[in-house]
Amino acid sequence: MENKEIELEFSIKSGAPEKQRTACVVVGVFESRKLSEPATDIDRASDGYLSEILRGGDMDGKAGSTLLLHRVPNILADRVLLVGLGKERDFHEKAYRDAIACAVKTLRDTGSMEATITLSEIPLKKRDTTWNIEQAVISAHDALYRFDRMKSKPSEARRPLKRVTFAVTRRGELKFGEVGLARGLAIAHGIQLAKDLGNTPSNICTPEYLAGEAKKVAKAYGFGCEVLDYAACEKLGMGSFLSVGKGSDKPPRFIVLKHMGGKKGDKPVVLVGKAVTFDAGGISLKPAGEMDEMNYDMSGGGAVISTFRAIGELGLKLNVVGLIPACENMPDASANKPGDIVTSMSGQTIEILNTDAEGRLILCDALTYAERFEPDAVVDLATLTGACVIALGAHPSALFSNHDPLAREIEHAADHAWDRVWRMPLWDDYQDQLKSSLADMANIGGRPGGSITAACFLSRFTKKYHWAHLDIAGTAWKGGREKGSTGRPVSLLVHFLLNRAEK
Ligand code: BES
Ligand code: MN
Ligand code: ZN
Repeated sequence: MENKEIELEFSIKSGAPEKQRTACVVVGVFESRKLSEPATDIDRASDGYLSEILRGGDMDGKAGSTLLLHRVPNILADRVLLVGLGKERDFHEKAYRDAIACAVKTLRDTGSMEATITLSEIPLKKRDTTWNIEQAVISAHDALYRFDRMKSKPSEARRPLKRVTFAVTRRGELKFGEVGLARGLAIAHGIQLAKDLGNTPSNICTPEYLAGEAKKVAKAYGFGCEVLDYAACEKLGMGSFLSVGKGSDKPPRFIVLKHMGGKKGDKPVVLVGKAVTFDAGGISLKPAGEMDEMNYDMSGGGAVISTFRAIGELGLKLNVVGLIPACENMPDASANKPGDIVTSMSGQTIEILNTDAEGRLILCDALTYAERFEPDAVVDLATLTGACVIALGAHPSALFSNHDPLAREIEHAADHAWDRVWRMPLWDDYQDQLKSSLADMANIGGRPGGSITAACFLSRFTKKYHWAHLDIAGTAWKGGREKGSTGRPVSLLVHFLLNRAEK
């Protein structure tokens, strides 16, 4: 039982909006009733038909408002959909993405199977055609995503939106649009997989299931894939990783993905993703409220598998290794207990003062394992701390790094992908909070600066290479009524890797 893929075809076409032969042409209107350039073209061709309607007060251009017009004079399209863009001076990246999402949702709900969208022609400061088209594809895909694999009767749209064309006014821009289209699609497919993996409940999405998904992606794109079981990890000395899964009847898996698309001998980028398929907290049990969301605690690992799907689709010319420690954190007679001391693969010992701080316990062994690849850079992603959500909320992922140029590289990719990060300090001053009188370190550092002490813990295992850590606890999924995975930070990772491949 697979979740259905979104069947949406995209293309780009040059030409004037009024000359588009299509079921529906979508044009933007700013507040208050100021026409975007493509809307002005349609207005002119139809002898002021749009201005007249707007003057009548049917639509004011507020963000999120829409108006569907039939039989607009002198226009080749059957219908014209007006989409409100909000104030022109506030029309930045978020407003742009929201407008695209609003357009495709309206098209879906009004039974349009095919449409031409002109919104990508509206200029944004510091962005170009490639960016506009890439983001439009991602945003459209995101808006139409559904997860109904677990519903007994999937809700089929009567006439689903099948084809979207982005109109590019100037012919010369077409080739830039094509680049954006290809990237956007690969990223959108990656995000879709990340959402599917995150949304699949933990009674299905187990460590073994994730290993199977990684193998599927590897097979589709010719990646290397190795899955280490308990015995193999034990042989490697991964005492910290293995201690976390002991309270679960689902056996742990350590997943290794390899894409050797770069030059032979080039040092790889290693991506490490936390994949706790359910985090009950272990013996330090979590409170019941919102515990249901802890199936999303594998989002880091899911994002690594999904990033591989995207770079496979793009045929990325770079060596990339993915490491995914996967297990379940449950309370049981054989589970970790507060006060237990474990020995990590690095040889450093850890006093487990709280079994719910398990993410760092599995990541530290993966980070040590990463050394064998002599990496050029290591980036880990993890839904690591509730403290990160308190500090930054749901918009940026927290970025920590032991190497400023790498941090800047990630900040740049995050801005370009519109999958943003905010850098946090990784100062030595915080290390004291991890002191243990019985072992080399404790696994928690108290409540103050909780996401920072978690990063400080990881930094003790990453001294041999350039490293960045992304705490995605606030960004990987949405809770409450809109419950669902966001697919972040796949887009950021793909851009980070693309930038490196282009160097
Ligand atoms: N997976 C959680 C972090 C988390 C909590 C993410 C809530 C998103 C929402 C992690 O394993 C955890 O439980 N962290 C503890 C650490 C604490 C015990 C030091 C936390 O943040 O409460
Ligand atoms: Mn936990
Ligand atoms: Zn966790």
